[in-house]
This record gives sequence, structure tokens and C-alpha cells, in this order.
Amino acid sequence: MAPVTKAVAAPTDIAGLVAGYHHVRAHTRALAAPLSAEDAMLQSMPEASPAKWHLAHTTWFFERMVLGADERHVPLRPDWDVLHNSYYHSLGRFHRRTARGLLSRPSLAEVLAYRDEVDARMEAVLAGGRLGAGRSTALVLGLHHEQQHQELLLADIKHALSCNPLQPAYDPGLQREPTPAASRHWTGFDEALVEIGAPAWPREGAPFAYDNESPVHRVQVGAFELASLPVTNAEYRDFVEDAGYREPRLWLSDGWERVATEGWNRPLYWEPGLDAEFTLAGPRALDPDAPVVHLSYYEADAFARWAGARLPTEFEWERAAAPLPVAGNFDPRRLHPGGPAPAVPPGCPQRVFGDVWEWTSSSYAPYPGFRPLAGAAGEYNGKFMSGQQVLRGGSCASPDGHLRASYRNFFPPGARWQFSGLRLARDRA
Ligand SMILES: [Fe+2]
Repeated sequence: MAPVTKAVAAPTDIAGLVAGYHHVRAHTRALAAPLSAEDAMLQSMPEASPAKWHLAHTTWFFERMVLGADERHVPLRPDWDVLHNSYYHSLGRFHRRTARGLLSRPSLAEVLAYRDEVDARMEAVLAGGRLGAGRSTALVLGLHHEQQHQELLLADIKHALSCNPLQPAYDPGLQREPTPAASRHWTGFDEALVEIGAPAWPREGAPFAYDNESPVHRVQVGAFELASLPVTNAEYRDFVEDAGYREPRLWLSDGWERVATEGWNRPLYWEPGLDAEFTLAGPRALDPDAPVVHLSYYEADAFARWAGARLPTEFEWERAAAPLPVAGNFDPRRLHPGGPAPAVPPGCPQRVFGDVWEWTSSSYAPYPGFRPLAGAAGEYNGKFMSGQQVLRGGSCASPDGHLRASYRNFFPPGARWQFSGLRLARDRA
């Protein structure tokens, strides 16, 4: 897969919007290029979606939110609306998420043709400079939305391919470099009143941020220490070999229930011998110094307890990350945690962005004064603020240019198929 340049984040000028649109749309196509039509319709579990659906849904989003905002637009495939609407009650009916893998029609070729047609319409609109404020806002949201689905596409196809006894690679040509061994240290932070979050976009004219990141508010954060690196495969293997999955006192009750009912005894894609794992390049030897990946919140929490530490709150995490450049392992030629990491100033935590999403101990909840976006986009984030945990930092499957220190990802605590790991924290003595 060819490398791509960093995405245009959130421009409001037409030239920037055109460049951002071309970049994001082309990157999705590049990510889907290694997949056959059969691959692209696999749905291996209720929470995952077929790649074909991701390709169609992201396109539908632009058609409904941008093209459809002009009353002169004639819907291209109104009969498909029910298939590709994900969860927007305000935009009509939608097919069951759990049954997306049953949609053999439209074919992959038809979906790709639909993408081309929407792209042509979008480019005509952009070329004519006929975007008003409302539609340019929807376009920027659509670009960030599609970037989220780029990562979901990779996580979902990885799970689907892992279910095949042949252990097929998504792309056998993905690169891998060993992770340099590094000793972990603790960075200390004094108690402070910390500014958390991002200004509301687009209301405050600030750079793009999702509505769940605003408003900016102050939080009293006690003294704490944060590990300089995420937990590694070698460290997590010690936990497994120390009977970590057989000691109920390490686990939250719900987590222990999952261990018992689902037979968890190692990270999702590890081989029973604890020496290899399934990757998007197929099975590979475990890199001992790479960040451990594909853990649930329950596993991350149990490991932290075993290690005599805890997970950071999302506020502790953001406080540590805010001064750092958003740089890390986002290379689409790798798509796996580990390898060389960018240098950071002495004493600062490393691998904060990229590699693995880091589970926090914070429940996904609205910030004080939270206001969802107007219109249908108001269903994007706020209605999911129940029963989920916040993850921070981004992963090796996140598109470069998509992230920031205030970014809040969220998944149910039992989710393992995302590129999720952990970083330890502890109270400061
Ligand atoms: Fe979506």
C-alpha cells in the first residue's frame, strides 16, 4: 500500500476542502484495495461491519449530509438509504446492524460505482464554490467521520480474517521493524487545576473537534505518575504466565464473568503458546517490546491491579499528552503496534499517540455544559454516553492527522477487537 500524506484536518477554504476530500476518499479506497468482494462482505460478529458497508455508509453520509442539504439534489439510490443509514433516527429507517453481513446486494462493484458517482457530484459542488456554511461544516464532519471508519474497517476485517483457519493476511506485504527495548520510567505530575477539552466546533470558530470534546472546562487533577511507555507484550505475557486470568481477585466482577463465559486466557489474537499473534499481515512472532494490543477494558484493569498500579483517568492522560506533538506510529504500511517511535522531550511519556488506544478508568460521559451538534449530526456522539469507557491516544490503524490530545474514543468495556492496550498510572506518594 502506498504511503499517504497527512490529512488536511479541518480547513474551511474551498481549496483545503477539495484537498481533504480527495485525500480521505482515496485513502479509504486504498485500504479496501487488498480485499476481494468476498472479503468485503464478511461480518464476523454483531459489533463489526463488512468493509463493503463501511465503503457505502461513509458515502451515504456525504450524500445525505452535504448533497442532500440542497433541496435540488435528487437522491442517487433512495432504496439503499435503509441499508447504509447506521443509527440516525432523524434520517429514516435503518437495517439491523447485526445483519449487515447478509447484504450480498448491492455488490461491491455497485457500491464502488456509487462512491464514484457521489465523488463526482461532490467535486462538482466544490468546483462551483457553491458550499454554504452549513454544507461545508457537514463536509468537514464527513471527512473526520470517514477517517473513523477507516480504522473500523481495518479492525473489522482483521477480526473477520482471524476467524478463518487459514489465517489469511489482509496484506502480506505490511512492514515490520523490531521495537527498540526501552526501560519504563514514571513521570510525576503535581496536583493542579487543569484545562480539559476543546472549544466547541463550529460554534466557536476553532479547529475541528467532535462535540463530545467540548466545552473546555477545568478539572482538579490530583498528584499522579504516568508510565513512560504502554505495557508491552513481554510484560503482559508475565501476567498471563502468573495465572492472571485465573485469579478472580484481580478482576472486576463483570470482567471475571467474561473470563469465565468466553474462556479468555490471553489477548484476543495471541496463539496459545504466547509466542505469536495474528496481525493484518497474517500470523507473526510476538515482538516482546511492542505495546500489547487487543485487550478489553477488563483485561487492562486486571493487569494494572496485578502490576500494583491503575489505569489513568482521561483527565490525567490529557494533561500528560497536551504538550506533546501528535506524532507516532500511524504508518499505513505497518498497521501494527511497535517499531521505532518518534523522540519526545526528556522525561516525557513516549508512544502517547499511535500504536494502541489506551483504556482509561473514565466512563464515557458528557462534559459539563455539553451540547450536541445541531440537526442529524446531534446523533453522532451524545446518545452513546452510557455503559462505555473512554480510550485515548489513537492507534497504528488511526489515520495520520485525525487525532489530538482532547480526542475521546469510546467502546464497551468488553470490546477486544479494537487496537486497544494500556498505559499504567499510579498515585503519587
Ligand atoms: Fe458512521
